[in-house]
Amino acid sequence: ARVVVLVSGSGTNLQALLDAVAERGPGYGAAVVAVGADRGGIEGLRRAERAGLPTFVCRLKEHATREEWDRALADAVAEHRPDLVVSAGFMKIVGAGFLARFAGRVVNTHPALLPSFPGAHAVRDALDHGVRVTGCTVHFVDAGVDSGPIIAQRAVPVEDADDEAALHERIKDVERELLVEVVGRLARDGYSIEGRKVFIP
Ligand code: GRF
Repeated sequence: ARVVVLVSGSGTNLQALLDAVAERGPGYGAAVVAVGADRGGIEGLRRAERAGLPTFVCRLKEHATREEWDRALADAVAEHRPDLVVSAGFMKIVGAGFLARFAGRVVNTHPALLPSFPGAHAVRDALDHGVRVTGCTVHFVDAGVDSGPIIAQRAVPVEDADDEAALHERIKDVERELLVEVVGRLARDGYSIEGRKVFIP
């Protein structure tokens, strides 16, 4: 399966996918074919360049409207003929136009056990709420914010001394493994989505 990955930051989830493809070869079932971002100068893009992959940047401020940005992003992704689009730390919400073109094939990873703590500050929100267990979720993207059908989740304990960075790092260790496992299974085994249920044979 051809995978396009969208990033906005350090790209360690992207790196985990790149490493899985390199280590497991064709047996993994997926290959990252391009990496896109909503901003330049980030480590995620440098990781893609180091892997010899094409990259693209779609900046919201370079478009008159959000709809035009959304269309430009979809066009840039479509150029690489993806079977799967993976949002891994991509900090923008894709619009109805983007989803219409890639419906049911856009996967996101989120550093909390959805539906708890959606949005851009999930780790801080979980910490502030005082949860003893949090985790990460890989889900299909729908028109909402972190609200699409859940594919897989893993729990991560919160330690007393945790600050946001420490907890996020502990989550990311688990999240990267979960994302690699899910992308490989979706690519190798196929899947179906019925309402909010995801079935992987
Ligand atoms: C991940 O925890 C992702 O779930 C969240 O931001 C982090 C991105 O990390 N949205 P990286 O860019 O993959 O290192």
